[in-house]
Amino acid sequence: MTQTHATPPADIDWSTLGFSYIRTDFRYLSHWRDGAWDAGTLTRDNVLHISEGSTALHYGQQCFEGLKAYRCADGTVNLFRPDQNAARMQRSCERLLMPAPNTEAFIEACRQVVKANERFIPPYGTGGSLYLRPFVIGVGDNIGVRSAPEFIFSVFCIPVGPYFKGGLSPMNFITSLYDRAAPHGTGAAKVGGNYAASLLPGQEAKERHFADAIYLDPETHTKIEEVGSANLFAITQDGRTFVTPKSPSILPSITKYSLLHIAEHRLGLDVVEGDVFIDGLDAYAEAGACGTAAVITPIGGIQHGDTFHVFHSETEAGPVTKRLYDELVGIQFGDREAPEGWIVKV
Ligand SMILES: Cc1ncc(COP(=O)(O)O)c(C=O)c1O
Repeated sequence: MTQTHATPPADIDWSTLGFSYIRTDFRYLSHWRDGAWDAGTLTRDNVLHISEGSTALHYGQQCFEGLKAYRCADGTVNLFRPDQNAARMQRSCERLLMPAPNTEAFIEACRQVVKANERFIPPYGTGGSLYLRPFVIGVGDNIGVRSAPEFIFSVFCIPVGPYFKGGLSPMNFITSLYDRAAPHGTGAAKVGGNYAASLLPGQEAKERHFADAIYLDPETHTKIEEVGSANLFAITQDGRTFVTPKSPSILPSITKYSLLHIAEHRLGLDVVEGDVFIDGLDAYAEAGACGTAAVITPIGGIQHGDTFHVFHSETEAGPVTKRLYDELVGIQFGDREAPEGWIVKV
């Protein structure tokens, strides 16, 4: 897709965009009935009319994804690794006994939504992007705790601003006594229940003026698992190793796996998926939170009990974090060569 002259929305100031709901022109909607997905359509209607007995409303039978479309300097539009989001949605659906769109149908729905809302894609150079929110929900008349008789797959989008208005600025986080997921629960699936469980700890962290809560492993509370809605990475004191937690209750972040690749193949670092002990933070010179929305958020410091541990600095990103950020964002906006298969043109 190349840049066309669709009228940009008059009421959007690209320079002040945040991460808030904005009603865009079209969303994709498909129904699963009698064992199959229908052809799916684009609709202007942003309100779903579903049965009061829908399992999504009562039993949390739903999952979602988050990915972005980026306007490049030459006017074309990039989707970043949408096949990975499709695969993760298929795993989430499998965990919650829901049918999932296949990879081709998932990417096609995303493409249609981006094309139909082209005027909402922030221009190249503003740092903004078009955030896509695919979701699957269980719907239809029901009351018992069982899988739904029907399902909806939908994709909507919103233009979002750069996470950092003034460059790459570190944020502070605090460990929570709550867990977002159980040891053998749904932590690795992108399902609403994990996020419902994170609302109270997130609010408590913000009340104490931290950016978000850090979740420790639910079994022993000694290892870092997630940083709010993002995965963690840390760089060892010698600057040579990229470390990120490994656990079955962490959401496998597509950004994190992309950074693992970039760290190893572009920055020449050793990479380790292993334990990051909350009492062992002295081993690391830098740390960051990574995800589609967070991109890379440098972690200034972590409050754990009475201890506040500062990494590189509370005001400036560390050197390895900056290199990872430049490489990742460069690939997403088409300024740096992408590894094979990472970019899908709309
Ligand atoms: C709990 C959680 N962890 C990690 C991530 C980062 O994942 P990704 O890089 O695929 O966006 C997200 C966001 O999707 C998330 O919600």
